[in-house]
Amino acid sequence: MSFLKKLFGGGDQKSSCCGHDHSHDPQPVPAAPAAPVTSPAPAGDPAPAKTPVVHRGLEGVYANESKLSDVQGDDGKLYYLGYNIDDLVEAPVTFEEVIYLLHKHKLPTRSELEAVEAKLRARRSLPQGIIDFLTAAPKTANPMDVLRTGVSMLGLYDDLGNDTDRPLNEDRSLAIIAKIPLIIGYYHRARQGLSLPPVRLDLSEAGHFLYLITGEEPSAKATQTLDIAYIIHAEHGMNASTFSARVTVATLSDIYSAITSAIGTLKGPLHGGANEGVIHMLEEIGSPDKVDAWVEERLARKEKIMGIGHRVYKVLDPRAPHLRRMAIKLTEELGEPKWIQMSERIAEIMRTRKKLEANVDFYSATVYHSLGIPTDLFTPIFAISRAAGWTAQVLEQLDDNRLYRPLTLYTGPHGLKVTPIEQRV
Ligand SMILES: CC(C)(COP(=O)(O)OP(=O)(O)OC[C@H]1O[C@@H](n2cnc3c(N)ncnc32)[C@H](O)[C@@H]1OP(=O)(O)O)[C@@H](O)C(=O)NCCC(=O)NCCS
Repeated sequence: MSFLKKLFGGGDQKSSCCGHDHSHDPQPVPAAPAAPVTSPAPAGDPAPAKTPVVHRGLEGVYANESKLSDVQGDDGKLYYLGYNIDDLVEAPVTFEEVIYLLHKHKLPTRSELEAVEAKLRARRSLPQGIIDFLTAAPKTANPMDVLRTGVSMLGLYDDLGNDTDRPLNEDRSLAIIAKIPLIIGYYHRARQGLSLPPVRLDLSEAGHFLYLITGEEPSAKATQTLDIAYIIHAEHGMNASTFSARVTVATLSDIYSAITSAIGTLKGPLHGGANEGVIHMLEEIGSPDKVDAWVEERLARKEKIMGIGHRVYKVLDPRAPHLRRMAIKLTEELGEPKWIQMSERIAEIMRTRKKLEANVDFYSATVYHSLGIPTDLFTPIFAISRAAGWTAQVLEQLDDNRLYRPLTLYTGPHGLKVTPIEQRV
């Protein structure tokens, strides 16, 4: 049977094309039941019939192997290349050291760190075409959409195209990590009608981003706070945006396309976009005494509470305590404890009522808000730090590539015939 006949069920049916009698057109056949059917294999069959199992949302499926991070959902632990993130934060290491760790699979020596810092700083520039785009983009645009387009445009300026050579892609990875903050920072300045501050080469990744968005010298404390947030967000197994990046590059597409896919995926409120949702929620609630009623109302309507719950962590997200500690300190210093008071009460209600815990986005929102960062830059900040993990995962995917191509259990109709357009209802 030909492919078209198979597709339209023409093989065993009377022809129905143009000018023929359609009175015997088959009625849509009910879809195959979504639930997998198990039937005993006929006697003598060499192999038993396979029962299709649908893993909705790919829950519990191992899509590949990775050395980069170990997300231990039952114990609430997270390791990068074998290092507990608690130890990385407390050591302390810097975000630049974590970038090196993820790309090179070892912590850098002093000279290796200096070399990677120098490479990142040397790439703090954007092609004029991208600067023109950033200044011309609508001032009301979502910065994540601007970032997605900006990173996609970076690919236009790479003459080497789709070369999948690892050293070249490592170099591109550093360039992408260095340029993402510039795209966000420049757009943020341009949308306010402000000049673009000249890049500085003496500041760390975290310090330079704060400088770009404010045009002012960042404090050591704000820089260190953001640096820790960067470290905590840098890598996280097969999360949705990393999966997007790996799926894209596994077709042997290029790294810019992979990171563009990842940014589009991170934007959604069930993933990175949740951190902005948390601040909107806290602003809407307004004060600690209104939390209980607000949450109960949302739960009664079966709505999600942003920053709560996780697909993998069945206990507290190990990143949350670091962000909580910083959020408590910052809000105390600012004399605005209501943000953390509201957060604590929400977390308590969700723990008791739904047995759900806070995730990484729950307290990061208050940290960024306390640093004076505009809400719509929260998810872009997540992208800045996760770019370290995305690029490391792209490199790892290409080291041992295989196309991702899962199946769909078809539940639609069979045997339909194409009727002429005039006869369709
Ligand atoms: C992260 C998240 C998408 C994980 O989703 P998941 O593994 O697919 O889990 P589900 O959405 O199927 O939720 C399972 C159950 O918990 C409930 N639940 C999960 N997260 C919830 C939340 N934040 N608020 C209220 N209920 C929640 C669901 O309503 C569902 O309840 P039910 O079984 O009674 O229908 C989900 O917890 C969520 O939407 N959280 C809010 C968004 C967020 O913070 N995202 C950032 C993640 S780092």
